This record gives sequence, structure tokens and C-alpha cells, in this order.
Amino acid sequence: MMLPEPTADTWCSVHRFYSCVYPRNLEGGAQLVAGTRLVITDSSTPFGGYWDLAGSVEGWFSELAVAMSDIFLTFQSLKSVNGDFLEIGAWHGRSAILWLMHARKNEKTFVVDLEARGPLAMNLERVSNAVDREFVLMKGSSFRIPDSGFQIEYRRKMRLVHIDGDHTAPGVYNDIQIGHGLLHMNGVMIVDDFMNPRFPQITEVVIEYLNQFSHDLSMIACGANKAFIVRTKFYEFWASHFEINLERELGARIEGADIYFGTAQNKKCFGIR
Ligand SMILES: C[S@@+](CC[C@H](N)C(=O)[O-])C[C@H]1O[C@@H](n2cnc3c(N)ncnc32)[C@H](O)[C@@H]1O
Repeated sequence: MMLPEPTADTWCSVHRFYSCVYPRNLEGGAQLVAGTRLVITDSSTPFGGYWDLAGSVEGWFSELAVAMSDIFLTFQSLKSVNGDFLEIGAWHGRSAILWLMHARKNEKTFVVDLEARGPLAMNLERVSNAVDREFVLMKGSSFRIPDSGFQIEYRRKMRLVHIDGDHTAPGVYNDIQIGHGLLHMNGVMIVDDFMNPRFPQITEVVIEYLNQFSHDLSMIACGANKAFIVRTKFYEFWASHFEINLERELGARIEGADIYFGTAQNKKCFGIR
């Protein structure tokens, strides 16, 4: 599926932004935080199998972020939450691969990227074959999604939305707005680079957006460079699970990570590091 091409102006400004921010010679694989250790006990689970299929794929999806996202998705599966997956900003597919691995037979993974560059399609194809799940690669700018009919067709149908595309304030605002409309009642929207001092505009936009829509969206957790946002109406669905199980669930995936019990929007918010 192709989104309408972005205009030259949009593309150039985004491209320049990226090339000045990210190093060009990234090695594959993120780094574990000092003092932590991956725990992989069962390679037949998405978390266990992920490292073989995606461990060497270049990207910015840290081990802690993988673990935390996996905890959300595993709980959804346990509760039979059914929905699709949307990735905005995929690079080589390091994060999109986890969504593909969690998808059930009737669930699709949509991957939107301006350029669909390098090994992205190949990586998604390889994992899609390995796990026998479908993905749809949409080449184009997420700025085009609101005009494409996609938002109407998939309204409230995504059980996971990952926002890691355009890192400018208008770009993140656009993508959060898209995610807001598409988010399933029991879904989670994950915004990358929240609280990353390299991108203060992302933190600003997330907080402003949450304040504006606090009746509908709540940040239930943050850390690993991410904000984890759920529907306010279903906040307790997650909060009651995390209160009892988050420590054990995280410890079963990564040893040595810390959990903090704070608040955001006057509700409990779980910090991880
Ligand atoms: C930081 S990388 C994504 C990293 C990936 N999610 C990971 O975890 O490894 C950002 C990606 O967003 C894409 N991008 C930037 N602006 C975009 C836009 N407006 N629409 C869609 N993709 C965009 C870039 O082409 C790039 O591949």
C-alpha cells in the first residue's frame, strides 16, 4: 500500500532534520542499561524468539523498551484483546518486528515510513515468513494519513500504535492525533523519545496533548525513552495488572531494571529504568 508521496518540501525538511541528529554509522543492536541482564527462558514466546529474529537489526528499540512493550502485548493476548498494529517510523524494522511477532492470524501489522529504506522490506518479509503473519508496508509520509481514508477504516482498531517517525513538534502532534483516533479501547500508544533531552519538543507535545485530552488518554507508564499511553476509560484495566504484576513481569524479561511508582495527571504512573 502506498500513501500519496510527500511534497519535496516536507521530505527535505524531515530528511535534513534526521541527517543532522542521527549518526550515520549505527551498528545494529541496542545496548542494555548497565547492571541489567536479559532473561530469555522460552524462545517460543514473542519475547524469547525476538532476539534471534531482530537482535541484529539496526535501530533504536532498546532491550528495556522491547520488554515493556512485550508486557503490554502479552497482557492483551491474555485478555483476548483483538486488533491491528501500526508503526509510524520503522527505519530497518527493529520495533515493527516485535508487533509482527505478537500479531495473531487475523491481525495485521501496518508499517508506515517515508522511505521504506534499505533492508526494511526484507526484514519484515523474513519475519513475516518465519511467524506466518501479514504486514502492510506503506511508503509515504504520515502527514498524508489523515486524508487517506485509513483513519476511518481502522478507527479504534489498533491494539498497538508506535510513534517513532517525524521528530518535529508538528510531526509528533500529527502522529499522536492519528494514533488517538485509531487506538483500540484496550490498546496502547507508545511514543518514542519521550523525556529524551535530544528532542524536548516531543516531551512538550505529549504532555500538552495529554492535558488537552485527559478525559480520553492517560500515560500509564514511561521510561526506556517511551511514553506508554492508554484510554482513560480503560486505565484500570492496565493499572490493576501493573500494580500486582509489573515487577514480576519485568523481572522475568530483564534482571536489574528499576520500577518507580509515581503519578501523572493525578493518576498512578509507572516509571521504568
Ligand atoms: C528513529 S527511526 C525509527 C526507528 C525504529 N522505530 C526503531 O525502533 O528502530 C525514524 C524513521 O521515521 C521515518 N520518518 C520520518 N518522518 C516520517 C514521516 N513523516 N512519516 C513516516 N515516516 C517518517 C524515517 O524515514 C525513519 O525511518
